[in-house]
Amino acid sequence: MTERQRVRPATLGDVPAIVRAFRSDLIEGAWWRFRKNQRTPAHVEDLTPFEQWLNGGPWMNPDYLMQHLGRLAAEGHLALVAEELTPGTGQGSGWAVRGEIEVFFYREAAAGAAPPLVAHIGVLQVERGFFRHGLGRALVRRACLEAVARGAYKVTVVSGRDNLSFYKKCGFGLLTPVVTVEGALPRLRDAERPRLTAPPEGLFARGVWPVVAGIHPGPGQTWFLYRAHPYEDPEFRAHRLEVSALVLPEQTGHGQRRAVGFLRQNQVDAEEAIIYCLAEPDRGGPDPSFGALGRAAFAELLRWAAALGYVRFRTYLTGPEHSKLRFFFRMGETSREFVLRLFTRDLEVDTNETG
Ligand SMILES: CC(C)(COP(=O)(O)OP(=O)(O)OC[C@H]1O[C@@H](n2cnc3c(N)ncnc32)[C@H](O)[C@@H]1OP(=O)(O)O)[C@@H](O)C(=O)NCCC(=O)NCCS
Repeated sequence: MTERQRVRPATLGDVPAIVRAFRSDLIEGAWWRFRKNQRTPAHVEDLTPFEQWLNGGPWMNPDYLMQHLGRLAAEGHLALVAEELTPGTGQGSGWAVRGEIEVFFYREAAAGAAPPLVAHIGVLQVERGFFRHGLGRALVRRACLEAVARGAYKVTVVSGRDNLSFYKKCGFGLLTPVVTVEGALPRLRDAERPRLTAPPEGLFARGVWPVVAGIHPGPGQTWFLYRAHPYEDPEFRAHRLEVSALVLPEQTGHGQRRAVGFLRQNQVDAEEAIIYCLAEPDRGGPDPSFGALGRAAFAELLRWAAALGYVRFRTYLTGPEHSKLRFFFRMGETSREFVLRLFTRDLEVDTNETG
């Protein structure tokens, strides 16, 4: 980081600049309107806040982002911005926000005296036109310093192939691939129809949520999905965006394990259910294992989605789960991302560079 750059905690006053940075990443500045499963080009001013959200989440609209950042701070997560100084005295000179990073903190397992703390980079965005100035690395570095300061033992991020060299340069290594798969839902005989279980509200009450966050390679994504509910916007609330949960307990040699499933409608394809299925790790094993419990939960979710009238499903699985499930369900791989992991104890903490 040069003396013309600095990183600091984000404030609500940064919202317009953060929105500008994220909007700059739309492919060729193109906005879309999604109606009746059709995608048509649109002008940003003609879209409602909800329609803007469909183009890329809360960062696309100042009101949603305001709520998002408020919630992030209230739940103890972290948002940082990177600023760059444009020299001179005229219009456009001075410090300007050119990028943002959001880091989620969670405990890896529910039980135990001191469950390990993990930091997960949920989003990272530098404004187009300011790439390769070192701002991305400065944001990641400061996030890692904060993770160390809070006692996290590792930092994770889910990223696509395009960013592998960037994260390698930031010190991350490959943990596992995350595969997006989609497929047709099975037709159901009446006898197979599942009984719908716990409403999402119950999830927090029973304390399942931290478990979910703790075992998912991309908790930011799940957090985002789960928290997609409460934007204070009638159009958002009117849209079918329910998240439902399924909890299946299983007894193992190391105690009880649970698998939790979420299901929601794809915002841009009403016939497609997006499914998240997470099995608690067997406490004897080092990494989350999906296993028979995960497969059972996944099958239940597919039946559930079919019973709700969905025609297709899409889900995200880590590599080994993917190959095992393929054996049981007809599905195709559509894209591959990677869970990257940086052990904070390997970080060289340079206190001169804390920004
Ligand atoms: C990924 C991203 C944050 C990188 O930010 P940036 O400010 O351009 O990165 P930096 O300038 O700090 O780069 C740090 C190092 O990574 C390298 N690097 C950055 N992007 C790279 C790329 N796409 N391919 C190869 N190397 C890359 C830089 O050259 C630099 O290496 P060097 O020190 O040897 O010169 C930015 O490209 C971005 O916002 N992309 C769009 C959104 C996105 O993909 N976010 C990540 C989601 S997980």
